[in-house]
Amino acid sequence: MARIAVFNQKGGVGKTTTTLNLAGLLTRRGDDPLVIDLDPQAHLTTVCGVAVPRPEVSLYGLYAHGAPLSALTCTTRNGWKLVPSHLELSKVDTQFGKGPAALSRLSNALEREPAERPVLMDSCPMLGVLSLSSVFAADGVLIPISADYLALKGALQMERTLKALEHVLKRRMPRRYLITRYDSRRRMAVDIERQLRERYGDEVCATRIAENVSLAESPASNQDVFDHAPSSRGAQHYTELLEELVVAGFMPAAASKTRPSLRTAPPGARTALAAEQESAVQRQVAFNLKLVHTRRTGA
Ligand SMILES: Nc1ncnc2c1ncn2[C@@H]1O[C@H](COP(=O)(O)OP(=O)(O)O)[C@@H](O)[C@H]1O
Ligand SMILES: [Mg+2]
Repeated sequence: MARIAVFNQKGGVGKTTTTLNLAGLLTRRGDDPLVIDLDPQAHLTTVCGVAVPRPEVSLYGLYAHGAPLSALTCTTRNGWKLVPSHLELSKVDTQFGKGPAALSRLSNALEREPAERPVLMDSCPMLGVLSLSSVFAADGVLIPISADYLALKGALQMERTLKALEHVLKRRMPRRYLITRYDSRRRMAVDIERQLRERYGDEVCATRIAENVSLAESPASNQDVFDHAPSSRGAQHYTELLEELVVAGFMPAAASKTRPSLRTAPPGARTALAAEQESAVQRQVAFNLKLVHTRRTGA
């Protein structure tokens, strides 16, 4: 699966944090993901250090003028490809309607992108055209659930929403629930985890993302956690999450035909062409080895 909607109609559960750090990991392993910010609050766009001068050059351009995603994609200072957001996107529902045409606009636009390219979509908390169209465009939905007292209510709401969408899509949407902001010292968090696992079984990721100060702080320095605090628990947990999702087939293994990671390749040591010729398996193995080394040495 290559296209993932990070979706929960509840705010503050870790959608943007998860998108940011998964995008960082995908880039580091040599992929060239397309990251789409669907939240009119544009947190991800801001964290990526992208200034959007006019709404037309954000995702809004797709709805307003049918602009192709390639025309709206910018390169962040980290070298990521981002379709940025703009506050004007909050008017999409009222300006362009909520019918099937609006809902399938993003998935139609993605049809023109290479099928194997990973796409991460950071959804907005409201239930509307934007968040629903990210599910329409996705191969799978990753649902961050913050381990707080409204967590279960949020999970039940998501279940209902996905059920309604599946009625239209006529297929079951693959999904994974991701427990975020987990603090094992809190009984409530332990209870919530137990209840989620009882209800959703294997669809709850084994990896839990801990409450971690580095994850909270990294956006302030316009960085993902791997730049900000590479040996933090937050970095470790997101690394484990990606590994888990790849093994489960929920996210793709490293692609064979994407550009090499600008960050992991020593300067001049590998040409882009040589790196492109590496097989997906070799790259995944190298990535895993590096992670094991990082974890052992804390480097
Ligand atoms: N695991 C975590 N540990 C500590 N803080 C977190 C964690 N995940 C998210 N946060 C913080 O919680 C707030 C909400 O997270 P965010 O990813 O923006 O949620 P959403 O996109 O669902 O609204 C942000 O300030 C973020 O830095
Ligand atoms: Mg967000």
